[in-house]
Amino acid sequence: MSTNPILAISGLTVRFGGLTAVDDLSFQVQPGQIHALIGPNGAGKSTTFNCVSRYYDPSEGSITLAGADITQRNAAEMARLGVARTFQNLELFSELTVEENALLGTYSRGARRLGQLLRRPDAENRDYAHHLLERVGLIDFLDHKANSLDFGRQKMLELARALAIRPKLLLLDEPAAGLRNREIDKLDRILTELASKEGMTVLLVEHVMQLVMSISHRITVMSFGHKIAEGTPAEIRADERVIEAYLGKGTENE
Ligand SMILES: Nc1ncnc2c1ncn2[C@@H]1O[C@H](COP(=O)(O)OP(=O)(O)OP(=O)(O)O)[C@@H](O)[C@H]1O
Ligand SMILES: [Mg+2]
Repeated sequence: MSTNPILAISGLTVRFGGLTAVDDLSFQVQPGQIHALIGPNGAGKSTTFNCVSRYYDPSEGSITLAGADITQRNAAEMARLGVARTFQNLELFSELTVEENALLGTYSRGARRLGQLLRRPDAENRDYAHHLLERVGLIDFLDHKANSLDFGRQKMLELARALAIRPKLLLLDEPAAGLRNREIDKLDRILTELASKEGMTVLLVEHVMQLVMSISHRITVMSFGHKIAEGTPAEIRADERVIEAYLGKGTENE
């Protein structure tokens, strides 16, 4: 771990009243890598994720993005800093079309007026939105309303919208939850390609171990707010503490 991390979490602690959801957590994410954060339900994964995306404020600790402290930044500033996220529960504009949802992602990069963008998108934004929709398999659904898509396609649309800001760091909270095997394979290919061909960094919270073990360069394991292990997929699969706390209990694909 000698290179400069794109993301460094140090001593992160998050308390909700009397509950310590994240307890003195530290880990680093290297640029161009897919880094997974796994662990049992309630371990503090989404809470950590929400601190990075600046939806939650840490009680203690620091989070740096490419060396700069972001704990004083707000969620709205993150797109400009090159950080995009998806939500554990979908948050699409359900009454807008597939194309419009993807275009909205390009808008958050700081494009022109919103109404104008949707009515008459400039060629660059439209082409890029189409390129992403092609990539996630939604190019034939441009005029469909988001809420008319099946669940798997809605998740792919959320991914396309996040990618539309051209993030350096992509934060994904359970992107494979509720997807069929065929859709998970597709997600596997898309994320692997984003990292290997485009140098994108991905922080992935996920329970679907088939995906995590296939695409991750590095895995951090949490349990009850603590980091209990970190390593490559092979190391994590063989780690007794991880098997006891998580992998051994048949939680896969929940
Ligand atoms: N906004 C909140 N207010 C109060 N408690 C919260 C809040 N968000 C999370 N918690 C609590 O913090 C703990 C960690 O929750 P978190 O959502 O981070 O877990 P998780 O690892 O993402 O779990 P899952 O795999 O089920 O999504 C849980 O006990 C949860 O109930
Ligand atoms: Mg969660």
